[in-house]
Amino acid sequence: MEFVTTMFAFFMLFGIVHAKEREPKIYARGANATIHIEELEIDEKNTLEITFSGFISKQHVTNVMLYAPMKNQRDNISINTIYKGRIEMIKIEKSSLRFLLLNVDFVDSGNYTVAIDSQRKGATSIFVPRHRLLGNNTESMVVHFTCNITYLSSIKIEMMISKQNFYVLKYDVKRRNCTEEGNLYRNRIENCVLKGSNFSFTIRKITFVDMGMYVAWDDKDILMDSVIVEFEGNNTASNPGKRNTNFSSLLIPNLSGSGEEPCK
Ligand SMILES: *[C@@H]1O[C@H](CO)[C@@H](O)[C@H](O)[C@H]1NC(C)=O
Ligand SMILES: *[C@@H]1O[C@H](CO)[C@@H](O)[C@H](O)[C@H]1NC(C)=O
Ligand SMILES: *[C@@H]1O[C@H](CO)[C@@H](O)[C@H](O)[C@H]1NC(C)=O
Ligand SMILES: *[C@@H]1O[C@H](CO)[C@@H](O)[C@H](O)[C@H]1NC(C)=O
Ligand SMILES: *[C@@H]1O[C@H](CO)[C@@H](O)[C@H](O)[C@H]1NC(C)=O
Ligand SMILES: *[C@@H]1O[C@H](CO)[C@@H](O)[C@H](O)[C@H]1NC(C)=O
Ligand SMILES: *[C@@H]1O[C@H](CO)[C@@H](O)[C@H](O)[C@H]1NC(C)=O
Ligand SMILES: *[C@@H]1O[C@H](CO)[C@@H](O)[C@H](O)[C@H]1NC(C)=O
Ligand SMILES: *[C@@H]1O[C@H](CO)[C@@H](O)[C@H](O)[C@H]1NC(C)=O
Ligand SMILES: *[C@@H]1O[C@H](CO)[C@@H](O)[C@H](O)[C@H]1NC(C)=O
Repeated sequence: MEFVTTMFAFFMLFGIVHAKEREPKIYARGANATIHIEELEIDEKNTLEITFSGFISKQHVTNVMLYAPMKNQRDNISINTIYKGRIEMIKIEKSSLRFLLLNVDFVDSGNYTVAIDSQRKGATSIFVPRHRLLGNNTESMVVHFTCNITYLSSIKIEMMISKQNFYVLKYDVKRRNCTEEGNLYRNRIENCVLKGSNFSFTIRKITFVDMGMYVAWDDKDILMDSVIVEFEGNNTASNPGKRNTNFSSLLIPNLSGSGEEPCK
């Protein structure tokens, strides 16, 4: 606990605790994600529409399910065939809606939005990092991403741990250079290179504060790639998917699968 407090004080010091407009939850690939949207006002006659807008293909909004209690379907819920078999434990209460989305993958990263009687009322977002990179404490580390977008003018990298995110850098494709760095990373970033669709940079002397999820956005805020950065060694590395032990578990987003918030 003490450690968390210290960390928080550290982040405060640098003025990098953002008031979060979205507090994404981070899940490992293959986990069951709890999609939980709160602060709703639902009565038994309301029609609820749940939609998904992916961080990867922004323009495209997908219907996930429809809850229409005034229609006489089984359970009054219809699930989009795309999601058939992947949604379980739907629970609709007065002020919240939740369900389990099974076996999530990178493409499930995005906003899940509820509209009540066609009016947008609430949303939540999840991230599913695509891969995992290991570094060694106090050594330099190369972090790399696949940036597979045709007309790319810049790449923005953000780092997220539990409920905060930090600006890491911006890469200017034309100038072939990182043109900005966030506070936490100032003077620690080297060798920004985009080679084909592989974007990489080096963080000098990583420490535990650098562990977390790194997310690459294009200039239109489309998600290109996301990686979890962890330390080589004793506990976390050999057991991907298992909960990390020791201090890393306080800092690294919870990669536990389902069951952390039991439904029902
Ligand atoms: C996800 O949920 C399904 C069905 O409830 C279960 O069979 C599966 O083991 C769960 N997966 C994980 C990773 O917990
Ligand atoms: C997701 O929600 C956030 C916060 O409301 C918003 O800034 C972002 O543009 C949304 N992204 C998509 C793909 O809808
Ligand atoms: C579905 O709607 C009917 C009324 O149309 C209601 O009697 C029933 O309890 C509803 N079922 C569920 C699971 O909400
Ligand atoms: C971390 O250090 C160990 C021991 O020196 C080395 O074997 C390993 O390759 C290093 N890992 C990385 C990712 O640099
Ligand atoms: C890039 O995207 C295209 C279209 O989505 C896909 O066909 C191709 O395999 C991708 N390449 C890489 C390296 O991911
Ligand atoms: C940007 O380019 C300059 C020279 O062109 C180079 O010295 C510097 O290291 C580059 N910065 C990064 C972060 O790659
Ligand atoms: C991308 O570049 C990094 C650093 O040079 C390298 O370690 C990695 O294997 C490359 N990835 C791909 C898919 O080429
Ligand atoms: C693992 O932990 C032990 C004891 O804490 C330490 O001596 C050792 O260097 C660690 N190994 C790695 C690879 O971090
Ligand atoms: C990690 O936890 C284990 C057991 O919980 C403990 O023995 C070990 O010393 C811890 N390592 C660090 C670096 O705190
Ligand atoms: C991760 O989950 C555990 C158990 O659900 C919780 O105690 C811990 O605070 C969570 N850690 C973070 C960083 O959210």
